[in-house]
Amino acid sequence: MKAVICTAWGEPEQLQVQEIDNPLAGAGELIVQVKAAAANFPDLLVVRNQYQAQPVLPYTPGRELAGVVIGRGAGVEGFAIGTRVFASQETGAFAEQARVHTSRAIVLPDNIDFDAAAALTVTYGTSYHALLDRAQLRAGETVLVLGAAGGVGLAAVDIAKAVGARVIAAVSSREKAEVCRAYGADATVIYTEEDLRAAVKSFTDGRGVDVVYDPVGGKFSEPAFRSIAWRGRYLVVGFADGEVASLRLNLPLLKGASLVGVFWGEYSRREPAAFQADMQVMMGWLQSGRLRPHIAQRYSLAEAGQALRALANRTAIGKLVVCPDLG
Ligand SMILES: NC(=O)c1ccc[n+]([C@@H]2O[C@H](COP(=O)([O-])OP(=O)(O)OC[C@H]3O[C@@H](n4cnc5c(N)ncnc54)[C@H](OP(=O)(O)O)[C@@H]3O)[C@@H](O)[C@H]2O)c1
Repeated sequence: MKAVICTAWGEPEQLQVQEIDNPLAGAGELIVQVKAAAANFPDLLVVRNQYQAQPVLPYTPGRELAGVVIGRGAGVEGFAIGTRVFASQETGAFAEQARVHTSRAIVLPDNIDFDAAAALTVTYGTSYHALLDRAQLRAGETVLVLGAAGGVGLAAVDIAKAVGARVIAAVSSREKAEVCRAYGADATVIYTEEDLRAAVKSFTDGRGVDVVYDPVGGKFSEPAFRSIAWRGRYLVVGFADGEVASLRLNLPLLKGASLVGVFWGEYSRREPAAFQADMQVMMGWLQSGRLRPHIAQRYSLAEAGQALRALANRTAIGKLVVCPDLG
């Protein structure tokens, strides 16, 4: 089969497509014919040897996929050959076939396309866990989402609107702001041009936001924290800016606020039943049209490096998916 292979740490352009042996299913595992595999910022960090958990070289990148079961290992219950599934794991999705443990796989209803399903685990999973579990977001509350047109950011906008929250979307361009408006954002701020705190203050009549969703870090984290309301919750999701911001601890004290860490990958491994339950809820929302993953572009396996480059260049909007059928 064809697979994207990373043989050395570096930039995404060095990824190559190679012909390698088909994977074999171990106990409790499936072989999935991959139809769509979404690109995520952590894939870029791993290729650059900058992620908290690194695989051994050579390896195949890609951490979420959707496809069809074509093989089953010993002890697998359900998941008959031909079943449509979606799944997430650390590596191996940018390939024609992937080995997936059944604990990481979910049956995909016939009326959901592979592209949308491939985008549902990491980004929607992270934002659902962050907003509804870690921050206990309630209808009527206001959320400030940084990097709101990115993968996890747009998922956060979509989920927050689905549960009846008000959303302020902070982005770096007018084009990104328009996409967030189309996803229901009540206000947008171009934080690279406008003063973030002043914009939030004006939109909330000086009260501040109940929840901040921060996958960006860097220089925006402190003004975002200072924009929080009494009893607010600040979600530390990621550091796409490249800089891990520092915060003076008097700030949470003054607001009676919580600084809340979000680590979806670890959550989904340590709490597999909760991971499966979250996915079932979101799949129901997807089927009823309550969620709408934004698939901006499709890439062949040979173009997987270009998808990761678009994330690095800050040009991606919503999700980018790698589709082995495109070559
Ligand atoms: N905690 C978790 O469990 C978890 C799970 C998944 C991902 N993450 C993290 O969340 C972050 C976002 O991931 P993603 O897949 O959503 O990425 P993405 O699609 O590339 O979105 C990241 C957004 O960050 C903003 N950004 C600001 N400075 C940037 C820079 N120097 N380079 C690139 N983007 C920059 C961009 O929005 P603007 O241009 O509008 O500023 C961009 O849209 C990453 O740090 C990732 O590791 C965390």
